[in-house]
This record gives sequence, structure tokens and C-alpha cells, in this order.
Amino acid sequence: MYNSKIIGLGHYVPDNVVTNDDLSKIMDTNDAWIQERTGIKERRYVVKGDGDTTTSMGVKAAKVAIERAGIDKDDIDFIVFATLSPDYYFPGPGVLVQRDLGIKTVGALDVRNQCSGFIYGISVADQYIKTGMYKNVLVIGSEVHSHGLDMTTRGRSVSVIFGDGAGAAILSREEDTSKGILSTHLHSEGQHAEELSLLAPGMGNRWVSDIIADNDPNDESYLPHMNGQFVFKNAVVRFSEVIVEGLEANNLQASDIDMLVPHQANLRISQFIQKKFGLKDDQVFNNIMNYGNTTAASIPIALTEAWEQGKVKEGDTLVLAAFGSGFTWGSAIIKW
Ligand code: UT7
Repeated sequence: MYNSKIIGLGHYVPDNVVTNDDLSKIMDTNDAWIQERTGIKERRYVVKGDGDTTTSMGVKAAKVAIERAGIDKDDIDFIVFATLSPDYYFPGPGVLVQRDLGIKTVGALDVRNQCSGFIYGISVADQYIKTGMYKNVLVIGSEVHSHGLDMTTRGRSVSVIFGDGAGAAILSREEDTSKGILSTHLHSEGQHAEELSLLAPGMGNRWVSDIIADNDPNDESYLPHMNGQFVFKNAVVRFSEVIVEGLEANNLQASDIDMLVPHQANLRISQFIQKKFGLKDDQVFNNIMNYGNTTAASIPIALTEAWEQGKVKEGDTLVLAAFGSGFTWGSAIIKW
């Protein structure tokens, strides 16, 4: 048995900065409300016609991760792509990355686990590496939310939160099993599937043909729906649980955590978790202020920035944790 280790990280966000004041010009919202409830100051949106897509941003992040890992693209044995906003309903973006990076015909898997997608992704990669099946796995989280949001007052409670961007990691075989990814912990509770969801074009019993036939301009099937307070209440409980689960599995205490990189859902959630585990400000990495919630991309973007800023060092104990739509949630305990 081997461990897997993150040997390269990269991220990409569009240049286009959208501030809270920008949003207040197109819907009934304001900077004070957004900052007070979420901590977000600005986010990035792709610009129509500029060519940025979920796949292309993932490819850009992947190129940086590959270069930093010091490997060749043809050393990659498998691709895992986590997103809720694929370029196409099918096929998923994994194969588009294989094509656009010009990688040989390795397997490509799409993960549909929304905010916890990157943790699910590295967990999958970790299992393949542990068993010896693959040596280097590329894991990407990327989202273009801006195209799918209701940018009117009707959609403000969801649309002000989300932003676009991508992050990527190369996981590689590590022979020293005291290093790298020590464990991952995954959960779901489908009972609450519709509390944070976008129903079209799958739709359950209402088909796309029905939407077209009804031709109703007020049809909300293609808009994301979030029961914000319910999601918030579940998030703080599940984040805490799954971090404790990860620590206990490795005989660690909260005081052993050098850096917690939580999914950037809401600064208030991160602050709640920080307080609960008694962590100092420099032990929790937050960048939601600059990017909003980028769902599957949020952890790899945050992890890349934390690493770039020298906040993740050799020998550190790192905790990644996420909760979101599904509900799904998970954690990863890493010895860097
Ligand atoms: O990443 C996936 C996981 N997602 C999460 O973890 C998100 C969890 N939920 C949240 O972060 C929060 O619930 C939100 C930030 C989404 C909303 O904050 P809230 O404190 O739960 O606000 P609320 O939805 O209860 O709305 C409070 C008020 C309402 O007005 P009334 O009914 O009190 O008059 C809303 O209509 O705020 C109003 N409101 C807004 N006002 C200005 C909702 N959205 C906005 C807005 N600007 N953008």
C-alpha cells in the first residue's frame, strides 16, 4: 500500500471582478448586507465571448499544477473533474480536459458532488493511488456559476454568493505512508436533495419537452434554489462532525491542526468552525472575500493560495472540509 501526496497545485480565476456595489446596480441588494451575512466583497465572473468555460478554466489551473508538480502531462494516469456547472449536460468535462491537454487516452471521471466535489475527487484519486493502480492523478474543481444565476432581485439570496473559478491538484504516489493524504471521510444525506438544487434539465417527472411546451417565462426550473438558513444550520453541524471524524481516525486533536482549509461557503460558517475548534486566525484559510463561493473550485483555489503564500509547509497537519448540495460533505486529513 502507498499513500498519495499533493505534489502540484494551480488555480485560475477570470480577470473580471464584480463587486457588491456592481450587483446593487442590477438588483435590490447592498454591500453591507452581503458582507455582513457572507463576508463576500467581490467575485469573478467569466465574460461572455472571452472563451472561459468550466473546462477551459480547469485546463488552465491544471497546466499550472502539472508544471509545479514537475511532471509531464503524459505522466498523468487518470483525470477526476468535479463540477456542478459542466460545459455540456453530457459528456462531462473530464474527457474535454483529456482532449484539451492532449493527454493520452487515460480514464476520465466526472464527480457530481457540488461543494464537496473536490474532497470526493481527491478521495477517489487517493484510493487508486493507494492500491497501486495509478501513480499520478489530476483532480480538478471548476465552476462557471455566473451564466446560471438569476441576476434579478428574485434570485438575490443565491446569486450574490456564487463566483467563477477553477483549481487543480496533482496527486502522486508517496511510499512513506506517514505522509500525504492520511484519510478521507465522505457522507451524504439525500433526504435533503432539493434544499440546494437546480432541477432542469433532469427534472424528475417534468421533462425538458414539458418546459419547452409550456414556454413559461417565469419557469424557475433552470434556476438554482437554496433554502439558505436550513443549509446553514446543517453545514455548521456536518462540518464539525466530519472534522472530528477525521481527527479521531488519525488519533489527532484539534490542537494538532496547523491549517484548516474549509470550503468557502460563507465566512460566518468558517468563523463558527474556527471558534468551535479553538483555532487562531492564521490556522484557518479564507478567501471567500475575493471570490465568493466557487463550489467545487473553492478548496483547490484556497489551498493553492495558502500554499503560494507559504501558509502550508512541509510536515504540517492540514484539514480540508466541505458541505453542500446533496447534502454531501467530507473531510481530508493531510500530512503535508
Ligand atoms: O456552498 C454550499 C453551502 N451553502 C451554504 O452553506 C450557504 C448557507 N446559507 C447562507 O449562507 C445564508 O443562509 C445566506 C447568506 C444564503 C442568507 O443569509 P440569511 O441570514 O439566512 O438571510 P435570509 O435568507 O434569512 O434573508 C434575510 C433577509 C430577507 O428579508 P426579510 O424577509 O427579512 O425582509 C431576504 O429577503 O434578507 C433578504 N435578502 C437580501 N437582502 C439584500 C436575501 N438576499 C438578499 C440580498 N441582499 N442579496
